[in-house]
Amino acid sequence: AHNHEDFVQCLSHYSNSSSISQLIYTQANSSYSSVLNFSIQNPRFSSPSTPKPLVIITPLQLSHVQAAINCSRQHGMQVRVRSGGHDYEGLSYVSDVPFIVIDLIEMRSINVDLETSTAWVEAGATIGEVYYRIAEKSRTLCFPAGVCPTVGVGGHFSGGGYGTLLRKYGLAADNVIDAHIVDVQGRFLDRESMGEDLFWAIRGGGGASFGVVLAWKIQLLPVPSTVTVFTLDKNLEQNATKLIHRWQYVADKLDEDLFIRIILQTVNSSSEGGSSEITIQASFNSLFLGGVDRLIPLMENSFPELGLTREDCLEMSWIESILYFAGFPSEEESMGVLLNRTVSGVLLSYKAKSDYVRKPIPEAAFEGIWEKMYEEEVGRAILIFSPYGARMAEISESETPFPHRAGNIYKIQHLIYWEKEQSSVESQRHISWMRELYAYFTPYVSKNPRAAYMNYRDLDIGVNSNNITSYTQSSIWGIKYFKNNFNRLVHVKTRVDPTNFFRNEQSIPPLSSRV
Ligand code: FDA
Repeated sequence: AHNHEDFVQCLSHYSNSSSISQLIYTQANSSYSSVLNFSIQNPRFSSPSTPKPLVIITPLQLSHVQAAINCSRQHGMQVRVRSGGHDYEGLSYVSDVPFIVIDLIEMRSINVDLETSTAWVEAGATIGEVYYRIAEKSRTLCFPAGVCPTVGVGGHFSGGGYGTLLRKYGLAADNVIDAHIVDVQGRFLDRESMGEDLFWAIRGGGGASFGVVLAWKIQLLPVPSTVTVFTLDKNLEQNATKLIHRWQYVADKLDEDLFIRIILQTVNSSSEGGSSEITIQASFNSLFLGGVDRLIPLMENSFPELGLTREDCLEMSWIESILYFAGFPSEEESMGVLLNRTVSGVLLSYKAKSDYVRKPIPEAAFEGIWEKMYEEEVGRAILIFSPYGARMAEISESETPFPHRAGNIYKIQHLIYWEKEQSSVESQRHISWMRELYAYFTPYVSKNPRAAYMNYRDLDIGVNSNNITSYTQSSIWGIKYFKNNFNRLVHVKTRVDPTNFFRNEQSIPPLSSRV
């Protein structure tokens, strides 16, 4: 039933475009591995034992996507759709059953329209490319999305998508105003023809359960020509624990123009005897939508304990702040790096999890977190605390499938990185460590459900077993990502894909499979 040769045959018949054969990579093709590996972000899923797609197709246009969907359906092939390849669990290019990958890398045009302050962005574009194309035309327009420029808009916008502008403007998904999608029948739909419930579902519910997103229309938003950034590093001797504790009482209540996140990690600090010691470092990493003259009094009023001075601050344009947060030189001349689709340097394997904090974590509890972080000597553990409040608290829980709104002080991202050369036993050890850390956090984070962010995909919180999707089984992870919105997602799925063609380990089940 899974005859990929028939599938390839079908593709060439379906599309009367002669070019399609050049867009198909089977395992016999010499470019197959480079095409597959190009956007893999997590080397954990590029080992020889990782299941590989039978065919990769890189469509150039709508008809190629339609052919891929129609032929997959006819020949019983499972489909995985990949845009930027940043899925934390590799779901866009790994499956346990025979499958093909539709890789949208060639469909990435971006059209910015200054007249309406909108842009059409094809799904294969990265957010770095979006930022670049906006800045090319205007220095006072922006778009609220993620920090890492290589993230793809296909997965990112459909799962939420946030960055330093989330307190001011919410998520990327909150600012999507139209979309183009190909459904299970191979039909092309826009917002009007897909209907409001499907349009709702793909803005936070993940695209992969519903079809292939081809493009998004996004609302660009105003940003002052001068913004201010700062990063203040504090280790334990510099009162980091007290400052983090205090931050929890102010971070979500600060002026909407002010975003201060905390990045926590272990670092080497050399002590007096010259020997190096491990300590915890908290980096208070901030974007302010205005000049330093307005920022300093704001900080003196709301978070004087941090002791921010003018000398700690840098004024720049918004696009330079994008470069700053991405770790590049923050000068407009280096803007071109935002067009790079690959990350420079060695890719590390990683495992991540997410949590939401609704009540400040007691100071004493942080001591236990530090102990846990000291235990992990080989890998690199990072915790990122991202503040909510402001715009995030104004949008209702049901406005989009993303339900983590009012009542959340901040989100935690737990991360552990390690070198890919390490054995699978070593990898398992890092993953176990991550699970223990997550267990340690249990008393301090959201409960019933223990909420999680879908774009930080974590298969530990539940999966659809054996590819048989059941409502009961799926609701275990579904409620954590979507709370009550899970039920509406199931209803949309039942209407648009009743046979569950678009499925993966964490796809929304249709009601017919309710058991
Ligand atoms: P990928 O192509 O792997 O797709 C992810 C999921 O979406 C898969 O299930 C896939 O099938 C589906 N999908 C992709 N394209 C689709 C399409 N066109 N139609 C339908 N379904 C589609 N998040 C965040 O909010 N803020 C941040 O700052 C960051 N930063 C960050 C940095 C790094 C280094 C990584 C690896 C990840 C992040 N993320 C993030 C998480 C990111 O938002 C998440 O992984 C996105 O789903 C990635 O989208 P891609 O298109 O790149 O992934």
